[in-house]
Amino acid sequence: MSASSVEVRDLVIEYASGGYAVRPIDGLDLDAAPGELVVLLGPSGCGKTSLLSVLGGILRPTSGSVRVGGVAVESLRGAALAEYRKQTVGFVFQAFNLIPSLNARENVAMPLLMAGVKRSRALERADRLLDRVGLADRARHKPSKLSGGQQQRVAVARGLAADPAVLLADEPTANLDYIQAEGIISLLRDLRADGRSIVVSSHDDRLVPIADRVVHLVPEFREDEQPPHLEEFAAGSVVFEQGARGELVYVIRSGTVEIIRQLADGGVEQLATLGPDDYFGELGPLLGFPRSATARAVSDLQLMAYSVQDFREQVLGSARAASNGHTKPVPVVPS
Ligand SMILES: Nc1ncnc2c1ncn2[C@@H]1O[C@H](COP(=O)(O)OP(=O)(O)O)[C@@H](O)[C@H]1O
Ligand SMILES: [Mg+2]
Repeated sequence: MSASSVEVRDLVIEYASGGYAVRPIDGLDLDAAPGELVVLLGPSGCGKTSLLSVLGGILRPTSGSVRVGGVAVESLRGAALAEYRKQTVGFVFQAFNLIPSLNARENVAMPLLMAGVKRSRALERADRLLDRVGLADRARHKPSKLSGGQQQRVAVARGLAADPAVLLADEPTANLDYIQAEGIISLLRDLRADGRSIVVSSHDDRLVPIADRVVHLVPEFREDEQPPHLEEFAAGSVVFEQGARGELVYVIRSGTVEIIRQLADGGVEQLATLGPDDYFGELGPLLGFPRSATARAVSDLQLMAYSVQDFREQVLGSARAASNGHTKPVPVVPS
């Protein structure tokens, strides 16, 4: 293992999904020094697995640079890429992914055997790694005879088989109860001492206390919420862009807005045209998702902009209170 560090700059990962473009990672910077444990934190769907796949050389990013130990991962091809995946990075998955018919030491030895290491040497190294993760006495057990926490320890040992500079763990504690999760967390913390960079993803914040660095994949919104206010847009200008993060919900005072979705092929799909008293942009902020469509002013536009909280209380609340009368039907549009 050579001393190595992770350096990601301006990373973009975009997928074409159901005909439109999804951009879970958009302009991310990330650093991990040797011996540092970095936690990638964010809810389901925010791009944790995508990011780890890029670091592991499994997924090619849309743009940006990924350096691991000075190697430009995004430009590796063919044999060099295969070598990178085998030697430089090790993987640990949420679901352990052990081979049921092999015992613990055979599972750990598997990547070495596949790389052509002699069986006796591979098994010897597997025994040392199982000792390192505290499972020396379970080396000859099949996965079905091990607890979830023990299986994940075997998977960590397997991830270390090739002595990688960087260990990538994708939600390694998500399938474990908190006692077993604690065991895996303290194991990952111990492994820093070997001088490896460890990058762990998680959707909950239990891992935060042990992290040397936390990367929030969904930016946390500002605490100082803006009070409801008037915003004006000239005809043709954009209120918000698909994929952007936003915290405001809009109610139209005057003018017309079109809601359009940008398609993966570069085209656009018109989803709705809205006028006075219609509102839009509520789902993204409510759910903590990026905007799922672009909103553009068709004519000169006056909008009342609300925080989610104010929108709930002042717009939805008053619509509900008045719903015995004749309120305008609430448009359901993507936001
Ligand atoms: N192969 C793919 N094709 C299209 N969309 C994808 C693909 N993989 C992931 N996505 C989308 O990218 C987003 C991020 O996914 P993922 O990286 O798995 O997030 P996480 O691991 O944080 O749950 C999700 O919206 C997901 O639906
Ligand atoms: Mg995932």
